[in-house]
Amino acid sequence: MSATYAAPSDRVLLITGASSGIGAATARHAAAAGWRVVLAARSRERLEGLADELGGPERALAAPCDVTDWDAQQRLVASALDAFGEIDAAFANAGFGGPRGFLNDTPEHWREMVLTNVYGAALTLRATIPALTQSAGHLLLTSSVAGRRALPGSMYSCTKHAVTAMGEAARQDLHGTGIRVTLIEPGMVDTPFFDDRPSDALHDDDIARAVIYAISQPPHVNVNEILVRPVSQQG
Ligand SMILES: NC(=O)c1ccc[n+]([C@@H]2O[C@H](COP(=O)([O-])OP(=O)(O)OC[C@H]3O[C@@H](n4cnc5c(N)ncnc54)[C@H](OP(=O)(O)O)[C@@H]3O)[C@@H](O)[C@H]2O)c1
Repeated sequence: MSATYAAPSDRVLLITGASSGIGAATARHAAAAGWRVVLAARSRERLEGLADELGGPERALAAPCDVTDWDAQQRLVASALDAFGEIDAAFANAGFGGPRGFLNDTPEHWREMVLTNVYGAALTLRATIPALTQSAGHLLLTSSVAGRRALPGSMYSCTKHAVTAMGEAARQDLHGTGIRVTLIEPGMVDTPFFDDRPSDALHDDDIARAVIYAISQPPHVNVNEILVRPVSQQG
């Protein structure tokens, strides 16, 4: 990563899916911009390594959490508030994909994907809204280009359409609270999301910069959607 940003803010950004890919890159960029970060995912060791890299307990909290578990999400928010006293932005980013073709994936994998990508994002939203109301903060959700156009036989695309709807539903619901809502809609990004890593794709840093753009705007600016494709991507 090579990023330089203006004055540190000390604000607090909670990120789910922070152990890898877009979430980890966003944590690095946000820390470079002066944010304190709360790092959530299931992989404790990776989170602890990243928290150490980003300055240790004063600057970064490793908070293992399975986003499909409501109690765990409530504990996540409680530990963030215990550690840092506030949450200024929450990035509901945890998620994964699956094979296309409605006969090509198992019902059990669909269940996990819907629970993680849709229910998990909704739980992050629900768990963080009280703290974000206190801070007049910012909610971000990772949808996808696949949440804007249906991909053939893709249950993953269905989950991301739900996340796109969730972002707009939240924007309208939270109107008047001061909370801003941003949907991040990446095209193909070279991350461990793919078993076969793509070439000519975006890098996780490219999406991290989009997140930093959204959360760096003046208080009256609500960036509602950012859709980013690599130049090489047609669909
Ligand atoms: N890569 C792309 O082309 C692309 C394009 C559009 C949208 N997206 C979206 O971007 C988001 C991040 O994906 P990525 O590309 O950065 O992939 P990634 O590197 O595989 O990261 C996925 C993250 O989600 C976490 N996660 C998965 N299930 C979880 C659960 N039940 N509870 C908590 N954390 C969980 C993983 O951590 P643990 O395994 O440690 O829990 C990991 O940190 C996803 O929502 C994905 O759908 C990706």
